[in-house]
Amino acid sequence: MYQYLRPLLFAFDAETAHRATIRALALLPPRALPIFPPSLTSEIAGLTFPSPVGLAAGFDKDGEVPDAMPGLGFGFVEIGTLTPRPQEGNPRPRLFRLVEDQAVINRMGFNNRGQDDALTRLKRRQLRGLVGVNIGANKDSADRIADYVAGVRAMAPVADYLTVNISSPNTPGLRNLQAGGELVDLLGAIAGARTPGGPPVFLKVAPDLEPGDHERIVRAAIDALIDALIVANTTISRPPLKSRHAGEAGGLSGAPLKPLALDSLRAFRSASGGELPLIAAGGIASADDAWERIIAGASLVQLYSALVYHGPGLARRIADGLAERLSERGMSSIAEAVGSG
Ligand SMILES: Cc1cc2nc3c(=O)[nH]c(=O)nc-3n(C[C@H](O)[C@H](O)[C@H](O)COP(=O)(O)O)c2cc1C
Repeated sequence: MYQYLRPLLFAFDAETAHRATIRALALLPPRALPIFPPSLTSEIAGLTFPSPVGLAAGFDKDGEVPDAMPGLGFGFVEIGTLTPRPQEGNPRPRLFRLVEDQAVINRMGFNNRGQDDALTRLKRRQLRGLVGVNIGANKDSADRIADYVAGVRAMAPVADYLTVNISSPNTPGLRNLQAGGELVDLLGAIAGARTPGGPPVFLKVAPDLEPGDHERIVRAAIDALIDALIVANTTISRPPLKSRHAGEAGGLSGAPLKPLALDSLRAFRSASGGELPLIAAGGIASADDAWERIIAGASLVQLYSALVYHGPGLARRIADGLAERLSERGMSSIAEAVGSG
C-alpha cells in the first residue's frame, strides 16, 4: 500500500507531507491495542513494554495521535519535544528528505504548542498504550534547568515515562547541558522535582560525543537515578552524502546515522556494563538493524526516519522479525538477547 502512497507524499515538501500524515492519522477510528508475540514483552524501569519497537520523538511533537500509533505496530510511542511555552521553531523550509541517502535533515527547532496544550489532549486519551513525553527548554528561556523542572512537574501526570532531551542540535547551546558540571546540576534539579510513584525518567543524548564523555554521562545518570539512556539523537556530523540537500544545516538522521549511533550505543554499553538500560535510536530500518542494537546492549529501540521511506507497516514487520530471531535462537525473551552479541 505504501508503495502507492509514497510518490504522492513525496510530491509535497517534507513538512507539508508530515502535517498531512498527522491529520490523516488523527481521523482514524480508535483501534484496539495490538497483540505481540509474548517473547517480545519486556520490563524496563518498572514498565511493561509489549514490543521493544517504539516511535522516536519528533514525529508527534504535540501528542496529537499517540493512540493511532500502536495500531501501526508500535509497542510504545514518545511524543514531544514539548517545551513549557509554545514556540514556532525555525523558519521553513526546515525539514528535508535526502532520498538517495535514505536520510532526513531537520532544523525544526522545537516547534510545538507547549505543554499545557498537550496536557489537555493527553488527559482525554482513550487507549492505554505506553506513551512517553519528551521535554525540552524554550529557546529564549533565561533558565533552561528551570524549564526541565517545570516539564517534569507538568507532564508527569500523563506520562508513562519522561525523556529529558538535552541533545537536539537545533536549539543553540542546548547540548552544552551534556557537559560535566551542567549535567550534574540539571540531573540534580530533575531528581528534586520527581515525586514518589511518578514516571521513570530517561535521558536522551547526542551521538556526537568525545571519548570519556560516555563514562561521565553514565556516572552522572546513575547518581541522579535516571532510569535509562536513549542513544541517540540526530547528528551534526556529515558522513558522505549524495543528496542535493546534504549541505542543509540541522540534525541528520536515517541510514547515514546508523554506524555512528551503533558505535555510540556500544560505547555506552561498555561504560555502563549493563547497569543502566539503553534505548537505541538512529538509522534503524529493519529487524536486522534492531537485532544488532539489541545484542549490542539495547533493551528497546526507537525509529522515525525509516518510516518516511518504508511506511507505517515497518514497526510491525520489525517486531515480527525480532520474534522470529528469538525463536530461531531458542531464546524466550528479548531480555535474554540484550547485550548477547
Ligand atoms: C523531523 C525530526 C524531528 C525530530 N524531533 C525531535 C524532537 O523534537 N525531540 C527529540 O528528542 N528527537 C527528535 N528527533 C530525533 C529522533 O527522535 C531520533 O532520535 C533520530 O531521528 C534518530 O532516529 P532515526 O534515524 O530513526 O530517525 C527528530 C527527528 C526528526 C527526523
